Amino acid sequence: MRIGVTSDIHTDISPGNSQIIKHIAEAVKEAELDVFIICGDISANVMVFSRTLGAFHHIDSDCKKLLVAGNHDIWTSQTTGKIDSNDKYKLITAIASEHDFHHLGDSPVIIDKIGFCGTIGWYDYSYRNDKHNIPIKYYMKKFFQGSVWNDVNYAKWGKSDIEMARYFENELQNQINSIKNGVSRIIAVTHHVPFKECVKYKDKLPWDFFSAFMGSVGLGEICLKEPLITHALFGHTHANFNVNIKGVQAVCSPVGYLTDPPKSLSQYARQKLHIIDIA
Ligand SMILES: [Fe+2]
Ligand SMILES: [Fe+2]
Repeated sequence: MRIGVTSDIHTDISPGNSQIIKHIAEAVKEAELDVFIICGDISANVMVFSRTLGAFHHIDSDCKKLLVAGNHDIWTSQTTGKIDSNDKYKLITAIASEHDFHHLGDSPVIIDKIGFCGTIGWYDYSYRNDKHNIPIKYYMKKFFQGSVWNDVNYAKWGKSDIEMARYFENELQNQINSIKNGVSRIIAVTHHVPFKECVKYKDKLPWDFFSAFMGSVGLGEICLKEPLITHALFGHTHANFNVNIKGVQAVCSPVGYLTDPPKSLSQYARQKLHIIDIA
């Protein structure tokens, strides 16, 4: 099985991000994938989100297309009216389905005996850098010394971050439990970062303040305690990772913000489609 994974396309962030979609679609087609996975952060705007998925229509129907939502994808704004992030999470399932993508946050899938379980995940500040001695209340406000984590303005779950982190961890665990007896292995897909080893710290602020919003330790613990999980694919941090953590291959291959675009979008797109071949 050949799996291609990318994340953080952020179509509406810059012209470069918009232009790269057709190149990613070309790269997916050329790679002759069996499974194509986007680990979240496509667009906060539902029309742009839908249009982005539409760019992958021409790919061979034998290639299964999977995604999880990113935090930007569940942002609410004037373009989405009065719906909250819970509504948007469900809407993502419907929009994905219209474009032959399966939203793993809705349910797991089994393809050729390989199980794919997924969730957006969330953060519980377990990745905070305690060197800075920032009281928890600032993480809860997502605001410290003039620095703002923008989910405070646009992510509207109606529950605390810690409650949402536990909720999505439970969703992932329940998906694993529901399929583990019928699969040869499981690939976990999240948007938020499952391992602290994949969070970058600089021992300075505001960078390390934002690191607290990368994910939760609990996501990784679920991956490590389940022997069937061989890969954990994720996004959110706009940095590449392809590292083995206690037997689980952790992969992040994000497009990121292309406000200063690379010389060749075509080449960059091919670099950002990480290929995993499973015998
Ligand atoms: Fe992102
Ligand atoms: Fe993100």
